[in-house]
Amino acid sequence: MSAASPYRIAVFASGSGSNFQAVVDAVREGRLDARVELLVCDRPQARVALRAQAAGVDALAFRPKAYGSREEYERMILAELQRRGIDLIVLAGYMRIITPVLIEPYYGRMINIHPSLLPSFPGVDAIGQALAHGVKVTGVTVHFVDGGMDTGPIIAQRTVDVREDDTAESLAARIQAIEHELYPETISLIRHKRVTLPDGGRNVRIH
Ligand code: GRF
Repeated sequence: MSAASPYRIAVFASGSGSNFQAVVDAVREGRLDARVELLVCDRPQARVALRAQAAGVDALAFRPKAYGSREEYERMILAELQRRGIDLIVLAGYMRIITPVLIEPYYGRMINIHPSLLPSFPGVDAIGQALAHGVKVTGVTVHFVDGGMDTGPIIAQRTVDVREDDTAESLAARIQAIEHELYPETISLIRHKRVTLPDGGRNVRIH
């Protein structure tokens, strides 16, 4: 980790937080030159909040219902991100729609990971959707966040074969193993300015 001016990441998560953990581990093991500055969590009882505590990462864990509107909740978050000089927002199983309050100031600096090869199977239960459709190959996508549901410009994808005897659990386990490699690797590319998102375009370049 560079001492003078670390690259500051905020992870947003709602659930188990295995991807949060993968990012924290990558930083600790020197594979990602960054600092996980903050966890934003909309479910204070979620396991990810315990992971943050164990890792010594500050958490902003408030129920959105305590705020007057989605926008008011996000304005509170935005103020905290700006106060801390957050460079990149990493969504990792954050189960809320994000509004322009956060998307506009962070466009190009907010990414998501999704357990399918987008644009196939956006939204909830991507793994169940893939199994129900009978695809032979699925995978993982990392993309920039825009105003839509899993629609933003794609940064990285990796495939996972579907086996005939797969259950949702067995397929999810192999997909998650890939997520835990791909997310820290992709964050590192962005951190080192190797990812270019053309103005208004979809074709992300890696160099
Ligand atoms: C991951 O599968 C990710 O692709 C999706 O939500 C899941 C989060 O899992 N967006 P975890 O909380 O990181 O274990």
